[in-house]
Amino acid sequence: MAGSRDVEDSIRWKNPAPPVSPCAARERIDSYASASRARYRTKVGEVAGRGGWRSRRAADFRCGFPLLQQGHDWYGHGRMTRIVINGSRGRMGQALLSGVARMPALTVAGAVDEGDDLGAVLPGADVVIDFTFHKVTLGVAEQCARLGKALVIGTTGHTEEEKTALRALSQRIPMVWASNYSTGVNTLFWLTRKAAEILGPGFDLEVVEMHHRMKRDAPSGTATTLLEILGEVRKVQLSEALRHGRSGITGERTDSEIGIHAIRGGDVVGDHTVIFAAQGERVELTHKASSRDTFASGALRAAAWVVGRPPGIYSMQDVLGLK
Ligand SMILES: NC(=O)c1ccc[n+]([C@@H]2O[C@H](COP(=O)([O-])OP(=O)(O)OC[C@H]3O[C@@H](n4cnc5c(N)ncnc54)[C@H](O)[C@@H]3O)[C@@H](O)[C@H]2O)c1
Repeated sequence: MAGSRDVEDSIRWKNPAPPVSPCAARERIDSYASASRARYRTKVGEVAGRGGWRSRRAADFRCGFPLLQQGHDWYGHGRMTRIVINGSRGRMGQALLSGVARMPALTVAGAVDEGDDLGAVLPGADVVIDFTFHKVTLGVAEQCARLGKALVIGTTGHTEEEKTALRALSQRIPMVWASNYSTGVNTLFWLTRKAAEILGPGFDLEVVEMHHRMKRDAPSGTATTLLEILGEVRKVQLSEALRHGRSGITGERTDSEIGIHAIRGGDVVGDHTVIFAAQGERVELTHKASSRDTFASGALRAAAWVVGRPPGIYSMQDVLGLK
C-alpha cells in the first residue's frame, strides 16, 4: 500500500535533507505533497464519502497517512497544518526546517529567531514550535494564547515560576510540552517506571546524562523527567532526595537519595542512563541520541497532532498514543 512512509522513505534516500530555508522547505513540501494530497482526497472520497470524522480516520488508516489524520485543519479547510518555528537559526531549528520538508501534511508559515517579529507571522499559522531559551517561551505562549494558536514546547530549563505561568496559559490553548520528543526516550520513560516498580526500594537509583559542550541548562530536561518518574514511584520529594554529583566527605549513600550527574563535552547530542544498583547486581537503561532529527520529527508530529485539540497540556505519550 502506498502511503506517507513510502513518500518519506523515497525522499529520505533519494534526497538526504540538507538544512533548508523556509522558502525552499515550502517549495519542496509542495512538490512532494501534491501527489499525496491528490491520492488522499480521492481515497477519502472513495472510502469515507461524507461519513464524518470516524470514517475519515478509517480512510486515513487505509491510505497510511498518520500525519494527515492528525492535521485537523486539513479536514476543515483543505489545507496543511501551518507551523512557525521559533529559534529557527539554532541547532533544533535547523533540524526542524530539514525535517518539515519530509512531512507532506505540514507547511512552514514562518521561521523566526531572536530579533524577528513573531507577531508578524503568527496570524497565518496554526501552531508554533518553540526551541529557544527558557526565558523566551512564556512570551511566545502569551502571544499564542492571544490569537488562539497551539504551541509545541521543546525548550527546556524553565524555572518553577515560568512553568506555573505556562500551565495557566494552557487553560486557553492546547500545548504539547515534552522534555524529549524522541520515540526512543519516551520508551525509556516507560521502561524506567516499570523497572523502578519491579525492582523496588532495594535498588539505589542514579541518573547520568551527557550533552554537547554548548548546552546551557543542567541537568537536562530529559534527566529531570526521569528523576520525576523515579521520585513518583519511590514517593519521595525530589527537593530532598536529589544529590547533584558528589564531592568531599559525603558520608555513606542513603537509601532514599537519588543521584544525578550531568556531563558536558564535545558534540554529544544526548545520552541518558538510569542505574538501578543493588547488592550483587545492577540494571542500566541507556538511550543515546546520535541525531537531532529524532527530536525534530517527534516535535513536528506533535505539531500536526495538537492543532484543534481542546486547551490543556499534552505529553509526547499522548501524541504517541501511549496513554
Ligand atoms: N525537547 C526536546 O526534545 C529537546 C531536544 C533538543 C533540545 N531541546 C532544548 O531546546 C532548546 C534549544 O536547543 P538548541 O540546541 O536548538 O539551542 P540553540 O542555542 O542552538 O538554539 C536556540 C535558538 O534560539 C534563538 N533565540 C534566542 N532567543 C530568542 C528569542 N527571543 N526569540 C526567538 N529565538 C530566540 C537563538 O538565537 C538560537 O538560534 C534548549 O532548551 C534545549 O535544551 C529540547
